[in-house]
Amino acid sequence: MPSDFLVRTVTGLEDLTAAELTEAGHRVADITKRQLIVEAAGPLDTRLADDVFTIRASAADPGHTRAGLLRAVAELTAHLAPEPGISVTASFTGTRNFSRYDIEDAIGGRLGVPYFSRRHGTPPPPGTTDLRVTLDGKVMWLGVRPHQAPLHRRAWRKATVVGSLHPPVAAAMARLADIRPGHVVLDPCCGAGTLLIEARIQEPGASYHGRDLDPKAIQAARENDPAIAWRTEERNPDRILANPPWGVRLPAVESFSRTWPEAARLVAILAEGQRLDARWRVVQTHPLTVAGRHPRIVVALIGK
Ligand SMILES: C[S@@+](CC[C@H](N)C(=O)[O-])C[C@H]1O[C@@H](n2cnc3c(N)ncnc32)[C@H](O)[C@@H]1O
Repeated sequence: MPSDFLVRTVTGLEDLTAAELTEAGHRVADITKRQLIVEAAGPLDTRLADDVFTIRASAADPGHTRAGLLRAVAELTAHLAPEPGISVTASFTGTRNFSRYDIEDAIGGRLGVPYFSRRHGTPPPPGTTDLRVTLDGKVMWLGVRPHQAPLHRRAWRKATVVGSLHPPVAAAMARLADIRPGHVVLDPCCGAGTLLIEARIQEPGASYHGRDLDPKAIQAARENDPAIAWRTEERNPDRILANPPWGVRLPAVESFSRTWPEAARLVAILAEGQRLDARWRVVQTHPLTVAGRHPRIVVALIGK
């Protein structure tokens, strides 16, 4: 019997996440901004999603009025058993005459004894069941995370550096790199190693090499995955994964193609205004919104 899941993503990764899940045999029933509704054929094993919730209830999206919200909340919660202690995290698309906290408190007020509101920024105590509620313009969904921590929080991440990449974005870039067993994969500004670590989880049969100007970054990367060759002399890479420092216009990326002109494919995340040098031919662009910024992932090949 398939289960339905609410899958949350970074803005811009919806289609790539849908492709990952479809390839794994699941059915993606709907895609809206930052969200997929998925009928799972078995356990949902996704590296690209930010988080996953088992759907417990749904109601029609209430629209923009508070009265509509209260009616929808009554319908949404009508058949839910009370929990020993809950908090609620809500989000919505579009313009509404209520805030996310109004949604959270309306649900918490009906369901939870006790209920821990997030309105004043106090984190709920450990052991509280956090309900996830989204209004996507068509449906109001209520889900519960089937695991302890959000999926984007990786167990391997023990150390970070400034500018560490959001792991699901790194996982999406690794997927776009089409890494095969035997490939040599290079990250020339590896930071704490997010790109190569996520790539190795997807394709353990390639060899991974990370370099960085900053010894502290190499130390952090080693802490995160001692099995990868950090700061070694790599052979000519078949794939380059790059998260060059944002704001650096391009000397770094330009020098990559001079140094490794034989690399078959580059997948890079670039800040607004940042470009690859002319020798790279961009074949795919994926615009994202992450933490209020608008970078893009580009897939590029060398030559014409
Ligand atoms: C945005 S961070 C990379 C973050 C990494 N993807 C992660 O998730 O941890 C950019 C890294 O580039 C390094 N860097 C800057 N200029 C460099 C250069 N010329 N050569 C190699 N690394 C460089 C910085 O030390 C920094 O660690």
